[in-house]
Amino acid sequence: MCNRTMKKLHLTMLLVILYCFVPSSTGSYPSTRTVYYLHTSPTTWMGASETCERYDGHLVKADNVTSLRADFQTLDIQLNRKYKFSNLTSKVWVGLYKAGGKELMWHKCHNVTNVDNIYGQLSSSSESCVSMDTNYQLSPTKCTEELPYICQVDEGQCWFLPVENKQFKMASNETSTDGLNECAKKCRNRDRNNSIECWAFYVDSSNATCHLYLTSERHTYLLNSGSYLTASVDTTVYLKVCVGGDTSSMKALSSAASYPALANCTHYKDEDSWLEAVCYCDCDQPPIILSPEYLVLTPEEKIEKIISELLVDASNTSASFRKLNSIDDKRPSARSIGSLGIILICLVFGGIVLLDLNVLVSHISALIGTSKDSNSNKK
Ligand SMILES: *[C@@H]1O[C@H](CO)[C@@H](O)[C@H](O)[C@H]1NC(C)=O
Ligand SMILES: *[C@@H]1O[C@H](CO)[C@@H](O)[C@H](O)[C@H]1NC(C)=O
Ligand SMILES: *[C@@H]1O[C@H](CO)[C@@H](O)[C@H](O)[C@H]1NC(C)=O
Ligand SMILES: *[C@@H]1O[C@H](CO)[C@@H](O)[C@H](O)[C@H]1NC(C)=O
Ligand SMILES: *[C@@H]1O[C@H](CO)[C@@H](O)[C@H](O)[C@H]1NC(C)=O
Ligand SMILES: *[C@@H]1O[C@H](CO)[C@@H](O)[C@H](O)[C@H]1NC(C)=O
Ligand SMILES: *[C@@H]1O[C@H](CO)[C@@H](O)[C@H](O)[C@H]1NC(C)=O
Ligand SMILES: *[C@@H]1O[C@H](CO)[C@@H](O)[C@H](O)[C@H]1NC(C)=O
Repeated sequence: MCNRTMKKLHLTMLLVILYCFVPSSTGSYPSTRTVYYLHTSPTTWMGASETCERYDGHLVKADNVTSLRADFQTLDIQLNRKYKFSNLTSKVWVGLYKAGGKELMWHKCHNVTNVDNIYGQLSSSSESCVSMDTNYQLSPTKCTEELPYICQVDEGQCWFLPVENKQFKMASNETSTDGLNECAKKCRNRDRNNSIECWAFYVDSSNATCHLYLTSERHTYLLNSGSYLTASVDTTVYLKVCVGGDTSSMKALSSAASYPALANCTHYKDEDSWLEAVCYCDCDQPPIILSPEYLVLTPEEKIEKIISELLVDASNTSASFRKLNSIDDKRPSARSIGSLGIILICLVFGGIVLLDLNVLVSHISALIGTSKDSNSNKK
């Protein structure tokens, strides 16, 4: 019995891995998850930008205050106000800068698109860097000033927060006859169309109807749930969450340069090309947020760390795993996980599957025969 369970577990992991690495094939792209890291140790703009780059992030792209504020508020609500993103207590560095003293860019290689007050201010200012105050106002700032900073990593997929015994007050924007899983996928994978996208769904179980709710206001159903949701016994609405975050007081890398040079963007992949690589799978796991302290390690150090985490006494594993995650996350059933997390999990469990491949192949037919009964238990 135990043996069979193990085999089944391994087969599941294999399927998860295969499913994870099948890329999404749509032509344009849905939202991906944005992870913000608030670094509380002050440093210069160059030190901040190099620290973010060290883990493939960039200084926060604060080009739309409305959506940034919505993300920060969601972060505080989601994480039980544990992190003070929406109530910053000091100025922070953001990614806007004047490369080589002339060309305006968002760190590292995003062209400036909005025509906004700050761009004019920065153009005519003698400063080349930009900070954001506690009211989300941007202003040119001397690059050698030392400030806390926010790094941004765009990776992984959005997930859905189930809210039980609730129903939407208003009619849905779109319906179809999909079941729960298909409905979730439809909402998550739906392309952004003029920034209108699906931010919530629910399935009417009486006639299996999938209802999608569309809006251009990021996270609004979650932030203003009082105005959108009403009590309703035995129905569950699912609200999309596209944000994650953590704080860190790690020491910033020190930078040799004082002012941002012209960026070499020759090999920069723009947003759409990395979005294409985002994998979609139905892992029933909360998204993993790796801490910056872990992310800045070299590959060798990471491997060493993973191995030492794996070798820890089993009774200690969850505590040390949490240290790695640095997040105390009590959400009931999150539905996705960042790509880094998937790679980690696939590496760890993929190894087990490969070791077991012979056994696995020879037992697949037996498994298919015996899985009918247990399939009805799972989904
Ligand atoms: C954040 O600040 C606003 C007003 O500035 C206040 O109403 C709110 O309670 C604060 N939130 C937290 C979590 O401190
Ligand atoms: C950004 O601007 C530069 C020069 O202004 C241009 O060559 C480049 O194609 C632009 N990149 C994007 C992604 O628009
Ligand atoms: C979705 O429907 C609501 C009312 O049910 C409406 O206020 C909103 O504008 C609609 N959204 C879109 C994108 O059509
Ligand atoms: C995008 O929205 C427009 C109207 O706002 C609509 O005509 C068009 O069909 C939409 N495209 C997609 C792919 O949904
Ligand atoms: C599904 O049932 C609800 C009431 O339970 C009803 O309002 C709705 O119109 C039905 N939808 C379809 C597509 O039949
Ligand atoms: C900011 O983003 C929202 C969508 O989240 C959009 O509706 C709004 O027009 C944007 N504002 C600016 C100034 O681009
Ligand atoms: C930019 O970087 C690429 C390699 O990534 C290099 O081949 C190229 O010469 C660099 N361009 C400049 C202007 O430094
Ligand atoms: C468990 O972890 C704690 C703190 O991380 C450590 O002090 C302790 O020695 C560990 N116990 C075992 C059995 O590894």
